[in-house]
Amino acid sequence: MAQSNRDGFTSSFGVLVATLGSAVGLGNIWKFPFLTGTNGGAGFLLVYLAATMLVGLPVMMVETMLGRTARANAVTTFEVVAPPGQGCWKGIGWMGFSAALLIMAFYSEVAGWIYSYVFKSLSGEIATVDPKAAATAFAGLVSDPVSSLVWQWVVLCVTGGIITLGVSKGIEAVARKLMPLLFVLLLVLCGRSLTLPGAMRGLSFLFEPDFSKITSGVVLTAFGLAFFKLSLGMGTMLTYGSYFQGDQNIPATTTRVMLADLSVSLLAGVAIFPAVFAFGFEPAAGPSLVFMIIPAVFTSMPGGALFMAVFFVLTAVASIGAMLSLLEVPVAILSERYGMGRKRASALTIVCIAVLGVPASLSQSLAAKFTIFGLNSFDLFDFLSSNILLPLGGILICLFVGWVYGLPELEKRLSNEGTLENRRLIRVVFFLVRYVAPLSIAIVLLNGLKLI
Ligand code: TRP
Repeated sequence: MAQSNRDGFTSSFGVLVATLGSAVGLGNIWKFPFLTGTNGGAGFLLVYLAATMLVGLPVMMVETMLGRTARANAVTTFEVVAPPGQGCWKGIGWMGFSAALLIMAFYSEVAGWIYSYVFKSLSGEIATVDPKAAATAFAGLVSDPVSSLVWQWVVLCVTGGIITLGVSKGIEAVARKLMPLLFVLLLVLCGRSLTLPGAMRGLSFLFEPDFSKITSGVVLTAFGLAFFKLSLGMGTMLTYGSYFQGDQNIPATTTRVMLADLSVSLLAGVAIFPAVFAFGFEPAAGPSLVFMIIPAVFTSMPGGALFMAVFFVLTAVASIGAMLSLLEVPVAILSERYGMGRKRASALTIVCIAVLGVPASLSQSLAAKFTIFGLNSFDLFDFLSSNILLPLGGILICLFVGWVYGLPELEKRLSNEGTLENRRLIRVVFFLVRYVAPLSIAIVLLNGLKLI
């Protein structure tokens, strides 16, 4: 069912940039700092690192490999690669379909906050280093139902518009141009943050682990973040893999993406935490953290308002790369399996997300009273997708590759039919995927949900 005339990335460098564009997003700038803050700092970072290296990276390799082998969307891929009679594996693709919608429902809301902060940077409304004033400014945005909804819809229209342009033209072109700039601005932010009086306390929060803070819930969140960061467990990497070139070195490419993504997260951490302590903010502030700290750091430097606006523009662009990759999962499924044009498939997906996004964007205003297990709809969508669906998808993909697909096929595919000298590496990957990853994710998941 794989189509021969599928659109694809046009060069090996394009593959790297687009994949990185999927990984780098609000996960680095918003989620990584706020979760590190709420989960106690360095200890969380350590668990996150271990999860990324031992579980995330191997899952990323096999996910892209499956997509490239089948050259199809997340559902069809499993029909192609699974042995006859085992069509049930395509359930992984459908799980990914639902996870994509769920993630987009809250992700587009956070992106909306970023868009609105571009304008607020220029108007001076958020230019403050005072924790109380910063919290009030942020609350003013999220507790206003109209602006929350409108910004989310702006985000969805922009992203939906880009996706209808097609894979190589849309995603590649956007991703390629602007990522390096974001990196430079993060470096500037780090420089300013590190030279604030009292900056060292932030660094020790980030790098000196306090192991007593590592609970089962913290470990589950760290695993969830590792999946979220590298866009794993729901078919994004699988779908992107299907656009990879045949001679792409998958282990090398995915390792580079992982390292670059990690550097961006660490830079964001170093930009944020020294300032948190220097200005007397609360590290465990939650999702509002970066929306208070980034303005504070920029406000304390010359020309801050303009730099701040540019920073939020670049973050908005980074979020587009990530959202395009999320949308690509349902859009590819709908267009390839149901013969829908890309335009119609994109429009349908966007409308579903807009509907699902309403409770998320109203979760701090009109819908604040609706909570399940003590979580409002925004937090619930995040928890369900990041901490449950992604790890679960990860387990299933590992079980499939480790126990059904098998080593000989994996070797053939990851070595590009023997043209790459990476046998030993592939064996390590296979071991991780067959035993280490599924077992550790399962334990973390059951333990984190208090089921064992
Ligand atoms: N990795 C992206 C970020 O950090 C978010 C993202 C894109 C994602 N595609 C995904 C998360 C697929 C989970 C699954 O912002």
